[in-house]
Amino acid sequence: MRWPSIPKMAISLPLAVLAACALVGINETGYNQSMHAVQSISEAQQIRANVNKLLQYMLDAETGQRGYLLTGDPRYLEPYDLAMNDISKNLDALRQFYAAYPQENAVFSTLAQSVSRKLSEMDVSVRLRKKGNEDAWKFVLTTDVGKEQMDLIREQSTKLIAISSQKMELSQEQIAKSLQLSRIGIAMVAMAGLLAFYLYLRQSNALRLAAQQQQQALQQERDLLGKLVRERTASLAELATHLQQVREQERGHLARELHDELGALLTAAKLDVARLKSRVGGESVDVTQRLMHLNDTLNSGIALKRRIIEDLRPSSLANLGLVASLEILAREFGERSGLDITTSFEAADVDEATQLTIYRLVQESLTNIAKYAQARQVEITLLNYGTYVTVSVRDDGQGFDTTRIRPASHGLAGMRHRVEASGGRLSVASSEGRGTHVSATLPKSP
Ligand SMILES: Nc1ncnc2c1ncn2[C@@H]1O[C@H](COP(=O)(O)OP(=O)(O)OP(=O)(O)O)[C@@H](O)[C@H]1O
Ligand SMILES: [Mg+2]
Repeated sequence: MRWPSIPKMAISLPLAVLAACALVGINETGYNQSMHAVQSISEAQQIRANVNKLLQYMLDAETGQRGYLLTGDPRYLEPYDLAMNDISKNLDALRQFYAAYPQENAVFSTLAQSVSRKLSEMDVSVRLRKKGNEDAWKFVLTTDVGKEQMDLIREQSTKLIAISSQKMELSQEQIAKSLQLSRIGIAMVAMAGLLAFYLYLRQSNALRLAAQQQQQALQQERDLLGKLVRERTASLAELATHLQQVREQERGHLARELHDELGALLTAAKLDVARLKSRVGGESVDVTQRLMHLNDTLNSGIALKRRIIEDLRPSSLANLGLVASLEILAREFGERSGLDITTSFEAADVDEATQLTIYRLVQESLTNIAKYAQARQVEITLLNYGTYVTVSVRDDGQGFDTTRIRPASHGLAGMRHRVEASGGRLSVASSEGRGTHVSATLPKSP
């Protein structure tokens, strides 16, 4: 199995993170630069406006001064005074602006000097007019000082406005650059994102394929194991069947030996006792009694031999049939155990092997009842359902936990094997204190 290599697997996430970081970085830089540029544009605009206003106020003041000088009407002094006031405020504001820019501050200083010279020239002429010193104020007016200062003011103002315009252009360029940078950055990051997505798709595809392959390998292994288990189970079942057959054959053989050899011996002994009895006649009461006792002992021996043979190989099955054999089994068990046995057997035409299976099932169930159940009542039934039969043995004893059977116990396991080998199904239902119910459903011929 091939796993995707680690670097390949790990590349898409860092790439995506890197792209995101680059995007944020580019965006932030662009934003900061643009904000800076916008700020300096608005500053330059304000400076331009202030310089223009200064010019305007200067003109207003000059107009007021001229009006007053020519007419002597104090109403003209009103706009003149207002303009003077505004000019001083304006100059303060501009001084503050230019304090941070030494190069431009030099131009501004020249402008401020010219303004102050012009203002004092106007102030002198107004004051002379107020005093009625006609020649003096006319003289001041005829000198070119005022015009020179005004020309200088215009020149410096134009310079300052030009510098501001240049600054604004630079800032605009900066904004355009930032926008361009952001554009390129976003395009590149989008490409990187697409690449990361493509790599991610490739990786997940590779992982899916690997998982599929692993699943297939697992499935194959599972199938193989399943097959192996089925084969082993089948061969074990075959072995168990074979062992049971051999056991039945052995039991048959032992039963025959007991019947033929021991039976012949006991019968011969019984004949001898009969012969002795007839010879002794009534001569000795003691001998006769002993012979009778011997005869009884031999009869008990023969009965025991019959029981053992019957237990080893139920000849009644072949001779009397299944129902009669089960009745004998139940009766004898009842006599031996003293339990109350209820039977209900329906005649069923069942083949020989199945008959033996049913017989052994009832036999083992009764043995278990005698050994463990401590029951008072036992119910045995055989029901005929046409193509199949069910046999059941139920007791009202103490019951047991069917999930906790000792591994060394073979009775129920052997029963199950026999039933299943005959094509049937066995069920053992029991719970502690509630009795036990063993039942099997078997086809009449497997
Ligand atoms: N009718 C019953 N009532 C109560 N307990 C039972 C009954 N039948 C079986 N058992 C319990 O189930 C266990 C398993 O029974 P099983 O016949 O398989 O084995 P066993 O009788 O212990 O040994 P084996 O039959 O191999 O001689 C028993 O040990 C017993 O505890
Ligand atoms: Mg048992």
